[in-house]
Amino acid sequence: MTESSEKLKSLSSQEKCPYDRCNGSGLEFTEVNGRQAAIECECREEKLLSKKLEFATIIDEFQGTVISDYKADSNHYEKEKSIMRAKMCKKSAQSYVSRFEEMKRKKKGLYFYSKTPGSGKTMIISAIGNELVQEYKATVKFATAGDLLNAIRSTYGNSDINTHELIDAARKVEVLILDDMGQQSIKSDTNDHLFDILNHRINRDTVTIFSSNCKIEDLPYNFRIRDRITKMAIPIEAPNESVRKNLAQQENDELLRDLLVSKG
Ligand SMILES: Nc1ncnc2c1ncn2[C@@H]1O[C@H](COP(=O)(O)OP(=O)(O)O)[C@@H](O)[C@H]1O
Ligand SMILES: [Mg+2]
Ligand SMILES: [Zn+2]
Repeated sequence: MTESSEKLKSLSSQEKCPYDRCNGSGLEFTEVNGRQAAIECECREEKLLSKKLEFATIIDEFQGTVISDYKADSNHYEKEKSIMRAKMCKKSAQSYVSRFEEMKRKKKGLYFYSKTPGSGKTMIISAIGNELVQEYKATVKFATAGDLLNAIRSTYGNSDINTHELIDAARKVEVLILDDMGQQSIKSDTNDHLFDILNHRINRDTVTIFSSNCKIEDLPYNFRIRDRITKMAIPIEAPNESVRKNLAQQENDELLRDLLVSKG
């Protein structure tokens, strides 16, 4: 892990106030009519919402991953076309992060897609999420579309977490990253919940970043959802080549060379 990713890890796990007003306590102390008074900091409601989506964090493998960790070279991709696409993914991710405020005003997210697993889709969307936390102290939640829908289902008849509250949190969170869109089994409530969440997000200064193994128009949701996603995210085609496979092959080739020259 690089120094900057170490720093990032400690930063993102810290409870902090995004407005630098309450030291993360949720209460701000000020003078009202000559007396000390505690008032609720703006970050308090956000924190409460965020707590409802506690399960939605970047997976361990990509905690601390930044965009510069995502490589677009011939050590990772064999095909020229894949390298070109990886470069596009990387460049758009970098520009997106540096123009985040503008993208938020325009309510635009990104939609990375390619049918090949292991090609870096989860990696690039995680890196974007990490950098938005690092550079803007953004509130970022990350889940696969399937996990989010299952979490909502698990609140049915559960008195601790209210279904509406969880959906509301997903509607309002500043940055929602939905991995593996369209890969979960479609149940009767899938379209309703997804539409509800995305339709609310489209009308707020929030952004949604997606990954999927298919184009938006081929997503197995109803057309109203595909319409919303088309409106709220710029599609970017990711490489159709598995870096995971390429790296494993290189590792094995090296070991084999090693075994062949070793004595004993
Ligand atoms: N561009 C890349 N640079 C470096 N490592 C990569 C890249 N793309 C993928 N990997 C590696 O390959 C593995 C699979 O990537 P992942 O993002 O999970 O693929 P996908 O989500 O497309 O299935 C990851 O563990 C990551 O370490
Ligand atoms: Mg993935
Ligand atoms: Zn605060």
